[in-house]
Amino acid sequence: MKIFFVIFGILGCFSWPSMQSDLETYIVQVESLESQISTQSSRMDLENWYKSFLPKTIATSSSDEKPRLIYSYHNVISGFAARLSAKQVKEMEKRPGFISAWPQRILSLHTTHTPSFLGLQQNTGFWRDANYGKGVIIGVIDTGIDPDHPSFSDKGMPPPPAKWKGKCESNFTNKCNNKLIGARTFPLGSDSPIDEAGHGTHTASTAAGGFVKGANVNGNAKGTAVGIAPLAHLAMYKVCQPFGCDDSDVLAAMDAAIDDGVDILSISLGGSSRSFYEDPVALGAYSAAQRGILVSCSAANNGPYESTLSNDAPWIMTVGASTHDRKLKATVTLGNQKVFEGESAFHPNDHNSAFSPLFDPSLNATDFDSPYCGTGTLNDPEIKGKIVICMVGGGYTMTQQGQAVKDAGGVGMIVVSTADYGVTMFVDAHVLPALYITYKDGMEILDYMNKTSKPTAKILFQGTLIGDKDAPVVAAFSSRGPSLASPGILKPDIIGPGVNILAAWPTSVENKTNTKSTFNIISGTSMSCPHLSGVAALLKSSHPTWSPSAIKSAIMTTAYTVNFANDPILDERLLPANIFAIGAGHVNLSRANDPGLIYDTPFKDYLPYLCGLNYTNRQVGNLLQRKVDCREVKSIPEAQLNYPSFSITLGEVSQTYTRTVTNVGEAKSSYSVEVASPPGISVTVKPSTLKFSKLNQKLKYQVTFTKRVNRTNGGVIEGFLKWTSEKHSVRSPIALVLESTIGF
Ligand SMILES: *[C@@H]1O[C@H](CO)[C@@H](O)[C@H](O)[C@H]1NC(C)=O
Ligand SMILES: *[C@@H]1O[C@H](CO)[C@@H](O)[C@H](O)[C@H]1NC(C)=O
Ligand SMILES: *[C@@H]1O[C@H](CO)[C@@H](O)[C@H](O)[C@H]1NC(C)=O
Ligand SMILES: *[C@@H]1O[C@H](CO)[C@@H](O)[C@H](O)[C@H]1NC(C)=O
Ligand SMILES: *[C@@H]1O[C@H](CO)[C@@H](O)[C@H](O)[C@H]1NC(C)=O
Ligand SMILES: *[C@@H]1O[C@H](CO)[C@@H](O)[C@H](O)[C@H]1NC(C)=O
Ligand SMILES: *[C@@H]1O[C@H](CO)[C@@H](O)[C@H](O)[C@H]1NC(C)=O
Repeated sequence: MKIFFVIFGILGCFSWPSMQSDLETYIVQVESLESQISTQSSRMDLENWYKSFLPKTIATSSSDEKPRLIYSYHNVISGFAARLSAKQVKEMEKRPGFISAWPQRILSLHTTHTPSFLGLQQNTGFWRDANYGKGVIIGVIDTGIDPDHPSFSDKGMPPPPAKWKGKCESNFTNKCNNKLIGARTFPLGSDSPIDEAGHGTHTASTAAGGFVKGANVNGNAKGTAVGIAPLAHLAMYKVCQPFGCDDSDVLAAMDAAIDDGVDILSISLGGSSRSFYEDPVALGAYSAAQRGILVSCSAANNGPYESTLSNDAPWIMTVGASTHDRKLKATVTLGNQKVFEGESAFHPNDHNSAFSPLFDPSLNATDFDSPYCGTGTLNDPEIKGKIVICMVGGGYTMTQQGQAVKDAGGVGMIVVSTADYGVTMFVDAHVLPALYITYKDGMEILDYMNKTSKPTAKILFQGTLIGDKDAPVVAAFSSRGPSLASPGILKPDIIGPGVNILAAWPTSVENKTNTKSTFNIISGTSMSCPHLSGVAALLKSSHPTWSPSAIKSAIMTTAYTVNFANDPILDERLLPANIFAIGAGHVNLSRANDPGLIYDTPFKDYLPYLCGLNYTNRQVGNLLQRKVDCREVKSIPEAQLNYPSFSITLGEVSQTYTRTVTNVGEAKSSYSVEVASPPGISVTVKPSTLKFSKLNQKLKYQVTFTKRVNRTNGGVIEGFLKWTSEKHSVRSPIALVLESTIGF
C-alpha cells in the first residue's frame, strides 16, 4: 500500500476518499522510561508511557476501527510504531520526552554445492569440529517459511536449548519441530508464517537446512542439498511480502528475536544507507549485539556502483556476493560457427539442436518493451519457429520473457545481459530452450545478424560443470563501499556465494509433479548473507564464548583474496576486484575456526565511536536508549575502533591508530608483522613482533599511516597488514583514500 501512497503523492492528483487515509505508520523514538522515573518499570508502564505521546483524542477514540498504536518496542529502540497524521506528529513533537518520528519506509529483499565449495565435507574437519552448528539458534527475518519442506525435517535434531523462549504462532504449532523452533508473523496475527514468496524458505535452508538427497532444478546442480549449519535450529520471523518489508515490522521482529533468545540473526533485506540512529536495521542490530547476538546482513544488490551498501554499521557483519565454481553451461553457435558461452538451468534431454533462424524484436518493435520480450509485446508472426534475442530489462523476469517468446511461437531465447553486469550471469529454470549471455557477446550476435541475410543459431546444453578456476568472481550486483554512513569502517566485511544458489523453495519451478522436495536457483546478496549466518553459527557452536565481533574477526582475518587460479579475486569485468567490493575477501571456513588472534570490539567502544561520528547527544542516545553527553566521552575517530580492517582517509598529516589483539591460538606464540603498504604510503607498525605467553592474553600495537608522494589520480589504494606465527596468519586489509582526491 505504502508504495502506492508515494506514487500518488508525487503525481499530486489523487484525493483521498476518507479522513482515515492521511494516516501513515510512523516510527516514533522517545526518551526511555527509565530516564523519566527512577523506579523499576514493567512492560505495562512502558506501553502507557508510549501511549501518553498519542493525541488524547486518538487514545480515547472508539470510532477508530484499527488500533493506532501498532508496536511498543522494548529492546530495539525506546519508542513505538503508530498510525498518525502529519499534523498529529507535529503536535507530538512538542511533548517532553519526544525525540524523533519518521514515516515508515519499505525495505527491500536483497533477492548444494556451496558447502563443499566452502570446504565443508561430511564427517571431516570443521563441520565435525563445530558439530554442524549444534545448539545454535539462527533467527531469520524474511518472507516466511515452508515448514513441510524436507530441508526443515528435524530428523536427528536435538530439542532446542533451554534458554529458548520463542514460539510458533497458534496456527503453526504443529508445523514446528526441533529444526524449525519458532515461526511468527509481523504485523502480529496478520497472516500465517507460510512463505508465499519463496525467499525466506531459500535463505533459511541455506543457513541451516538439513540434508536432502537428490536436490536439483530440472536435473541441474544435482546433489545433496544442505545448509551451512545443518544441526542449527531455525526461527522464522515473517516480515516481508513479495514486494518488500515495512521497517516497523522489521524492528518488531528484531525486538521479539532478542527476547526469544536467538544466537544469530540473518537479515537479507534493507533500505539505502542512513545515519545509524535512523536506520532500523542498525538500531535493532545494536541492541542485538549488546546481548551477544551476531547480526549478519546482506550488503544489497545495487552494484557495481560505489557507495551503494546497506546495513553498514560496524556492529553488523555486512556480506557481499560472489560466484562459486559451478556453472550450468549452455552455448549458442551461430550460422558462421562462432560459439558463445552462457548459462541456463533448462537442460532438456530431448532438445532438438538443429539451427533455427534468429529474430531480433527490437527491429520493427511494436512496443517500447519489445526489445525486452515484455509480456504481450511480441506480436510479429515472423517469430514463429525462431530463436528470439531478448534484452534484460523492463522489469520482466526471465520466466515472463520466455513465456512471451513461447506464446509468440518462438523455439528458443537468448537473454542478453546489460553492459555494466559484465560476466555475471543468471541461470533460470526457463520455460523453453534458452540461455543467458553477456552484453558483449549479445552485441556480437546482433552484429552478425545485421551483416547476414539469413542469420541462424543453435542452443546446446552442456550440463553442470564444477571447478571454474576464475571462481570466486564478485557479482556485478553486489553493493560496493565505501560506506556512506561511516566511511572510516571498511565495508562490505566479507563476500560469500550469492550467484545461482540452489536451495529450498516452497513450490516446484519446473511445471511438473507436486513433489515436496522442491528447489530453486536464485541470486543476490540475500543468498550470500545466510551462508555467512551459517558460518557464524558453526563458529558459535565451536567457540560458545566468542562475542559477535570476535566471530566476525575470525571470519575476516582468515578470508582469502585470491581465486582458484591463484590470481587476485576478479570482479564482473574480469579485472582485479576493488577492496570496496570484497572487504576482507572470501570466507574460508577451514581457517576461520582457528584464527590465532582476534580483534574483539568491546561493546562499550561504540559510544566513543558514535560521538566521534559527530552525532548529537540525542542521536547517540537513540542508539543507546539512555541519556548521553558526548562531551564527557573521549570520542575516537572511526578508524580507532578495534576493527579487523582499516579504511583510512589520509591528508598531509600522519595518522596513528591502536589495535588490540586477543590470543585464541597457542598459549605460547610469537607473531611478526608483514606490511604491504598502499603505493606512495608508508605504513609502520610498532611493535613488529607480539609475543604471547597465555591464552586470551591481549596485546596492543600501533599503526601509522603517512603520505610519501603526492598522487594525481584519485580513487582508493590498497594494502594489508598481516600478523604471522608458525601456525597462523591474521590479515587485515587496508583501504586508503587520499584526502585531496575526495570530491573528484
Ligand atoms: C491460520 O492459517 C490459515 C491458513 O493456513 C489462515 O487463513 C488464517 O488467517 C490463519 N489465522 C491466523 C490467526 O493466523
Ligand atoms: C518489418 O515490418 C514490415 C511490415 O510489417 C515487414 O515487411 C518487414 O519484413 C519487417 N522487418 C523485419 C526485420 O521483421
Ligand atoms: C547495421 O549495420 C549498419 C551499417 O554498418 C549500421 O549503420 C547499423 O547501425 C547497424 N544496425 C545495428 C542494429 O547494429
Ligand atoms: C505445464 O505442463 C502442462 C502439462 O504437462 C503443459 O500442458 C503446459 O504447457 C506446461 N506449462 C508450461 C509453462 O510449460
Ligand atoms: C582455506 O584454508 C585452508 C586451510 O588453511 C587452505 O588449505 C585452503 O587453501 C584455503 N582455501 C583457499 C581458497 O584459499
Ligand atoms: C567530526 O568533527 C571533527 C571536528 O570538526 C572533524 O575533525 C571530524 O572529521 C568529524 N568527523 C566525522 C566523522 O565527520
Ligand atoms: C603534497 O603537496 C602539498 C601541496 O602542494 C605539499 O604541501 C606537500 O608537502 C606534498 N607532499 C608530499 C609528500 O610531497
